[in-house]
Amino acid sequence: LNASMTIDPAFRIAPVHRRTFGSFVEHLGRSVYTGIFEPDHPTADPDGFRTDVLDLVRELGVSTVRYPGGNFVSGYRWEDSVGPRAQRPTRLDLAWQAVETNEFGLDEFMRWAHKAGVEPMMAVNLGTRGLAEAVNLLEYCTYPGGTHLSDLRIAHGATDPYHIPIWCLGNEMDGPWQIGHKTALEYGRLAAETGRAMRILRPDLELVACGSSHHGMPTFGAWERTVLEETYDVVDYISLHAYYEEHDGDLPSFLATATDMDAFIDEVVATADSVGARLGHNKRIQLSFDEWNVWYREPERPGATVPAPQPGERWPQAPRQLEDHYHLADAVVVGNLLMSLLRHSDRVTAACQAQLVNVIAPIVTEPGGRAWKQTIFHPFAAMSANAAGDVLRVEPVSPTRHTDRYGAVPVVDAVATVDEESGALALFLVNRAVDEAVRVDTTLRGLDAVEVSSCVSLYATDGDVYATNTADDPERVSLRPNTDVHLTANGLGVELPPVSWTMV
Ligand code: AHR
Repeated sequence: LNASMTIDPAFRIAPVHRRTFGSFVEHLGRSVYTGIFEPDHPTADPDGFRTDVLDLVRELGVSTVRYPGGNFVSGYRWEDSVGPRAQRPTRLDLAWQAVETNEFGLDEFMRWAHKAGVEPMMAVNLGTRGLAEAVNLLEYCTYPGGTHLSDLRIAHGATDPYHIPIWCLGNEMDGPWQIGHKTALEYGRLAAETGRAMRILRPDLELVACGSSHHGMPTFGAWERTVLEETYDVVDYISLHAYYEEHDGDLPSFLATATDMDAFIDEVVATADSVGARLGHNKRIQLSFDEWNVWYREPERPGATVPAPQPGERWPQAPRQLEDHYHLADAVVVGNLLMSLLRHSDRVTAACQAQLVNVIAPIVTEPGGRAWKQTIFHPFAAMSANAAGDVLRVEPVSPTRHTDRYGAVPVVDAVATVDEESGALALFLVNRAVDEAVRVDTTLRGLDAVEVSSCVSLYATDGDVYATNTADDPERVSLRPNTDVHLTANGLGVELPPVSWTMV
């Protein structure tokens, strides 16, 4: 197959936002306990944080981490999670039917975020709680001192206020599974009043209203419209969540998943702008894609979930939940999803891959044992390290292939960034064809290609697109040098293997 494209720095979309490379730590399964926090682990530091995991988080290039949920936040009592450990109550977590010991809480997370070098993104509970608790939490975290709650933080060892620039007003409040699920109007009013009160204390906050939990929600569109009608002047962002998986062995559709993300984003932008136009606002609402990933919902997959506890049974603490093992094709899709986010950098200015460790995550740990990289680690780390400067629009001229879910879809997708400071161009490409390689010819305009400093691909070296990484073979799926790349008279040519993700 052949495809072509033109790259021109004049086709600028927006700056690369570091927040595109956010992630998510929820009190769910082994994300926190035996994930980022395991005091008895041989690599644990004096705070009980696994330093092998901290190293991998830094290598992944995560910018922002959302906390503490997720569905968990809708039953969260933040006060339980601070102060002397021995006095912290053990609680039931209704969202995940588990027991929360609160051994790791808000102050530990802030210390961990500091060590990991990530910006915290905090979610408040608008499921079982409301305005007062959200403002109290904000006071605890950000007020300098001299009040009950700020002095409590100081007494707990954090003299300086925490720097938490971005806050989520609840989580997935459109979902019937959410504890304290609400109608759009109920939620919109609560989010608006909570946001207004929070802004009295901290006018500088960036606030995120809950959008739809996925593109296919029956309330999608209407939910965003109503919520934004209530909150438009208070919030900066509307959120989007999306999880994708391969259904019934339909690999071609799965590989075309990013087309759904593209459409979802475009439709939320259109909805938000229509509300803005009707309300006569110049302000443009930004999009926070603060949960996205591949997630297999099939309970029979190994590690996917534990059976629901029976009535009367005790609930487990930090059970194995949502521990998906990712394969090569998942990594190609994840790379393509990040390309979609990047291409929408004019409106998607925050995003969080869900999640970071063990739970649908790029990093896996064994309790007391090793930590390693899942396949999906690689495109994320490569893009976070190399996407810099401005995002450029690239419109590949590509053959298409039929997919059952999305109709005819271009085989090649691409996006580029150019960094004027370093002079580096980064081109990200995906080949969605199941068994055909594609040669891509790129014309470079307004750019002098001096050399190709690196070209790497994620592809099935042994032909197995379902290959995974394991503790014993952690590098089976990784980025490999792609030597089928060369400068041409007016650009460059590169060969993309079937089912592959490439960075030039
Ligand atoms: O990331 C796992 C869960 O997915 C989150 O808790 C929830 O917000 C979403 O439904």
